[in-house]
Amino acid sequence: MNDQSKSQRNEESVSRRKFLKTTSTAAVGGSMLSSLAMNHGVFADHHDEVKVALIGCGGRGSGAADQALNTYDQGPIKLVAMADAFRDRLDGSFNLLHKKHGDRVAVPEDQKFIGFDAYKKAAALADVVILATPPGFRPIHFEEAVRQGKNVFMEKPVATDPAGVRKVLAAAKEAKKKNLKVGVGLQRHHQAGYIETIKRLQDGAIGDIIATRAYWNGNTPWVRKRADLEAKAGRKLTEMEYQMRNWYYFNWICGDHITEQHIHNLDVINWLKDGYPVKANGMGGAEVRVGKDYGEIFDHHAVEFTYADGSKMFSQCRHQVGCWNSVSEHAHGTKGNARIDRYTITGDNAWRFRGKGKNAYQQEHDDLFHAIRNNEEYNEAEYGAKSSMTSILGRMATYSGKEVEWDKAIASEISIMPDSFEWDTPMKSVPGPDGLYPRPVPGQSILV
Ligand SMILES: NC(=O)c1ccc[n+]([C@@H]2O[C@H](COP(=O)([O-])OP(=O)(O)OC[C@H]3O[C@@H](n4cnc5c(N)ncnc54)[C@H](O)[C@@H]3O)[C@@H](O)[C@H]2O)c1
Repeated sequence: MNDQSKSQRNEESVSRRKFLKTTSTAAVGGSMLSSLAMNHGVFADHHDEVKVALIGCGGRGSGAADQALNTYDQGPIKLVAMADAFRDRLDGSFNLLHKKHGDRVAVPEDQKFIGFDAYKKAAALADVVILATPPGFRPIHFEEAVRQGKNVFMEKPVATDPAGVRKVLAAAKEAKKKNLKVGVGLQRHHQAGYIETIKRLQDGAIGDIIATRAYWNGNTPWVRKRADLEAKAGRKLTEMEYQMRNWYYFNWICGDHITEQHIHNLDVINWLKDGYPVKANGMGGAEVRVGKDYGEIFDHHAVEFTYADGSKMFSQCRHQVGCWNSVSEHAHGTKGNARIDRYTITGDNAWRFRGKGKNAYQQEHDDLFHAIRNNEEYNEAEYGAKSSMTSILGRMATYSGKEVEWDKAIASEISIMPDSFEWDTPMKSVPGPDGLYPRPVPGQSILV
């Protein structure tokens, strides 16, 4: 490129950025002026280097950071800060990412942060933050990222209780006002086959939809046993530390597997219905996966959700070895049926998706960074929060054994979160003298 066209391009780019800043500032009003003026990172064009911070450096966080860095073909990008509750997790992630991405992982020692406040410090150094801790922390971290004026990619679920959902919904509104881009890790929304199948179903391919089904029946993902953790550490762990390490089995931080995993399938049905259930009833318990290492969550839930039009979604999720397994979504209509996860419609308008799509984990990052660099409206937080709430509604129904209405559930003031975050914070759920944690008892337990 010659110098003249280079400077012309720079000029265009500057005036475009000025335009975008002006329009977004005008749209959000005077109160936002100061924070937008300070925050050059709200949007970036193709020349700007985008700085990323990773908060929660485990399996998915490392994957998400990798996918974010893979968008370098859209423009320069660097990982500049990392935060985790534990040093060993951060180091493992850093080594992995650095090995793959080299100089694009530019995280000096003083930009690696450890502990409960680490997220604030890492976010402050970035234009885009990846929130990939266990979900209990998501509302707090998302609220802070939005407060700081950062674009966000956050993993699902985005909360574990109604108070958390409300916090995310409020921050989502704020993010819109600030023209921030927010992606949520419900990656099926970025999967070509899902997109096409849902569109056809919404256009009437199977007529009126009478009922839907959603399943995540599989095996236990992982467990970190207290004895192993303490042997590795060479000391006793505080209860907070143990629950943080073995987070899958504690409600405040995980939300139970109906929320942590099954949200994907529930969210697909919400997407299809273009709405959220108005009530739910269900049953569940812990039958097989019991014992000291398996905390307080259930190993199976079966829920009947009702949508505003009276149609039902039948949902199951189970973590029991040797049973019928299926991770899938189905729709039944007056003119046919659909196996949504297989992109297949049978009946009057039989059809099958034969196209090819990119890996959905990569595609969701390509889409988010495209929106950031082109200043396109992009905010998945609301449906992320409401699909999280759908899974929480289901959990409230199975724990209580009662029929639970959405409006009452989302307004619930019961908080399952710890009162503070220190390594010696007294935890709300602790093991009894037999080493077992109390589990909800249907018919006797309060809603959450
Ligand atoms: N979209 C998907 O398909 C998908 C797949 C897997 C996981 N996930 C989601 O990603 C999230 C993380 O799951 P994972 O499998 O990576 O778990 P993980 O245990 O491997 O990683 C979580 C990391 O967060 C850290 N952490 C915990 N509390 C923290 C805090 N307060 N501040 C900073 N760091 C903290 C942990 O130490 C750990 O390194 C979960 O919400 C999970 O549901 C999504």
